[in-house]
Amino acid sequence: MSIINFIEKFKKLNRTLFTTPSHGQGDFVAPLSLKLLGHKFFTCDYSEIEGFDNLASPIGIIKSAQDKAAEIYDAKATFFLINGASSGIVASMFAILKRGDKVLISRNCHKSVYNGLVFSGAVPIWLMPQYNRDWGIFEGINIDYLEEMLAKNRDIKAFIMTNPTYEGVMSDIYQISNICKKYNVILIVDEAHGALWNFHKALGTPALFQGADIVIQSLHKTAGALNPSALLHIGKNSPLGTKAIQQALNLINTTSPSYPLLVNIEATIDYLNSEKGKLYLYELVKNINRLIRSLKAIPNLEVYSYNNDITKILVKVTNMSGYELSDILYEKYGIEDEMANEKSVLFLTGLGTTKLKLKKLEKAMIDICANNIKISEDKPPKHYEPVEPRIKYTPAMVWGREYKEVDLKYALSRVSMELIADYPPGVPILLPGEVIRKEHLDYISDRQKIKVLV
Ligand SMILES: Cc1ncc(COP(=O)(O)O)c(C=O)c1O
Repeated sequence: MSIINFIEKFKKLNRTLFTTPSHGQGDFVAPLSLKLLGHKFFTCDYSEIEGFDNLASPIGIIKSAQDKAAEIYDAKATFFLINGASSGIVASMFAILKRGDKVLISRNCHKSVYNGLVFSGAVPIWLMPQYNRDWGIFEGINIDYLEEMLAKNRDIKAFIMTNPTYEGVMSDIYQISNICKKYNVILIVDEAHGALWNFHKALGTPALFQGADIVIQSLHKTAGALNPSALLHIGKNSPLGTKAIQQALNLINTTSPSYPLLVNIEATIDYLNSEKGKLYLYELVKNINRLIRSLKAIPNLEVYSYNNDITKILVKVTNMSGYELSDILYEKYGIEDEMANEKSVLFLTGLGTTKLKLKKLEKAMIDICANNIKISEDKPPKHYEPVEPRIKYTPAMVWGREYKEVDLKYALSRVSMELIADYPPGVPILLPGEVIRKEHLDYISDRQKIKVLV
């Protein structure tokens, strides 16, 4: 039985519960949250009471829902994540890597890999993807460079990469997984932004179909689910088992997973896999493509179109920084983008992106470009062009070590005890244990101090 059907049936039993959660399925709701959230959400919020399942060792309704999802995604196993893709990244690192194991990580990974490094004690080797100055974004993974790194470091145990990137750029996972297999390296793909790929061929090819061992998807990013729901899949032909992943998830997960989130995860997958869902997604993709075509016809406007997922619309306007465009859209048109950099602006679309919203964006862009709209610009944020990290200690080695705050002018060449990352996209600029370089200091020069290792 599905989680949803079970809860519907359970409600009708009208049991008297002396259990958590103490709101008693909405018998009490703090008045202000009732006003904002309504009552219904609470009526689905249960604990592991009789008949319900346990996310930490599922044998009932959660197991059935996860097994069904694994079938839909064509995975060996699928885990529902109620603490975001971040928890999937951390758990998979913790499950696979032992203290001292070497792990190759693409530097444009999400900062949750740092948490995985602290927990696992693994030693990071960073792969720097090419930086595209014209757009202010990272490119995909260069296959030759990857092979070179793996050939040079034969003891690397796993490779962690993001596909698509935060801005939608795709890499050739098929070739990457073949290289990883050749060097006996486990491939973990953070597909947080590719959660719709299994349901529409034109968006991208899921890493699960291309030989990845572990794939993590955020359902809340493009697939229309509640924050912070996500999935972790194990590849069908991967040698990895499910036990280590479950144990690692249990170490970091709450013992009170949210049933509203689990219900929403199940319902989202069900919908995406239905004929109705596929049609809905088909329409969405059609509408996005229509918008992109229209944007491309606007003079002085460029849309990034080089092997990317079109749900991430990256644009730039001639003689205008991404920050300026972002400010104009926000202040004059009430449009908020996902992210801006010195060159471009990123619009994230997904199941909730209506035709009306796309139209509004189109009109605003036409207006801005045709009428040369400007606003008085605040001081633009500093530009940071990624530099190779210099590792003095691994994140695990400096975790909990004594630190002090020093003025920036005394920080050059000291060991950072801070994680510095812009959010979004949450890509680390500097991690604890890394040597502070001039480029870092230039970038954070608005600050007074930074934490360094004593
Ligand atoms: C590429 C990437 N991976 C992982 C994450 C973390 O996802 P979540 O918010 O689901 O934990 C993010 C969040 O921004 C992301 O952009």
